[in-house]
Amino acid sequence: MNESSAPVALVTGGGTGIGAECCRALAAAGFRVGVHYRSSEEKAQKLVAELPGGFALKADISDAEQIDALIKQLKDEAGQVDVLVNNAGYNVNAPVLTMKLDDYDAVRSVERGTWYLTKMILRRFMFRRGSGRIINISSVVGHTGNPGQIPYTMAKAGLDAFTKSLAQEMAGKDILVNSIAPGFIDTDMTEELPEEVKASILARIPLGRTGTTAEIADVVTFLATRGSYVNGTVIHVNGGMYGG
Ligand SMILES: NC(=O)c1ccc[n+]([C@@H]2O[C@H](COP(=O)([O-])OP(=O)(O)OC[C@H]3O[C@@H](n4cnc5c(N)ncnc54)[C@H](OP(=O)(O)O)[C@@H]3O)[C@@H](O)[C@H]2O)c1
Repeated sequence: MNESSAPVALVTGGGTGIGAECCRALAAAGFRVGVHYRSSEEKAQKLVAELPGGFALKADISDAEQIDALIKQLKDEAGQVDVLVNNAGYNVNAPVLTMKLDDYDAVRSVERGTWYLTKMILRRFMFRRGSGRIINISSVVGHTGNPGQIPYTMAKAGLDAFTKSLAQEMAGKDILVNSIAPGFIDTDMTEELPEEVKASILARIPLGRTGTTAEIADVVTFLATRGSYVNGTVIHVNGGMYGG
């Protein structure tokens, strides 16, 4: 086990996009960061090399056995987890009439894995110590809906409900649970959207531009290090695209 006294943050989907920026920002704020990845090994390892005390953890979070192995590795590597950022997410674009059941399951299985990983992190690291912070990265579309993304919007709406329920279950502990619902952020995930979809989204953003990964990581760092009376809520970071 590493004997560093730095607090430890685990970021799922930390090898790419928003997750990678969260890893950088949390490391800059003094955390040892566990960079979780599934397939982006090269990116995750490159990032770990940049982060003081950083380490990489591999798991497909749709597979409970791989989560159990990740928890064991975390125990050996860091011995504690102070902040969990549930950032991993998956989407398949297709209307309901053509979307396959397997695609539906693949999208929703990440949400199931997020629930199981959170349960294991709470049980092994946070609950006994009575403190910790859980930050779920949901999405504006969980509130507005979005055509062609029904399972994804269901998963993200569910993630925000998870935040609210879990915050209430943690009553009496110093364990804060919050969501950040990004709007349209420049990453590989949004790069894949058809041009006409991108243009129509842009027209609905009062700030007239997409957001950056750093603008999400900034709010993640706030919830990880300050925000001591923010609990059970959803912070919308979307340029005014949706005010709710
Ligand atoms: N970009 C946006 O505009 C936007 C807006 C709202 C919400 N979000 C949310 O922000 C989060 C980050 O998205 P992003 O934009 O940064 O896109 P991204 O780069 O595609 O990130 C998605 C991450 O999720 C991980 N992942 C997917 N399925 C997984 C699985 N079964 N097991 C483990 N990890 C899995 C991927 O890991 P590997 O690459 O290692 O496979 C990847 O690092 C997601 O939850 C997304 O829904 C993004």
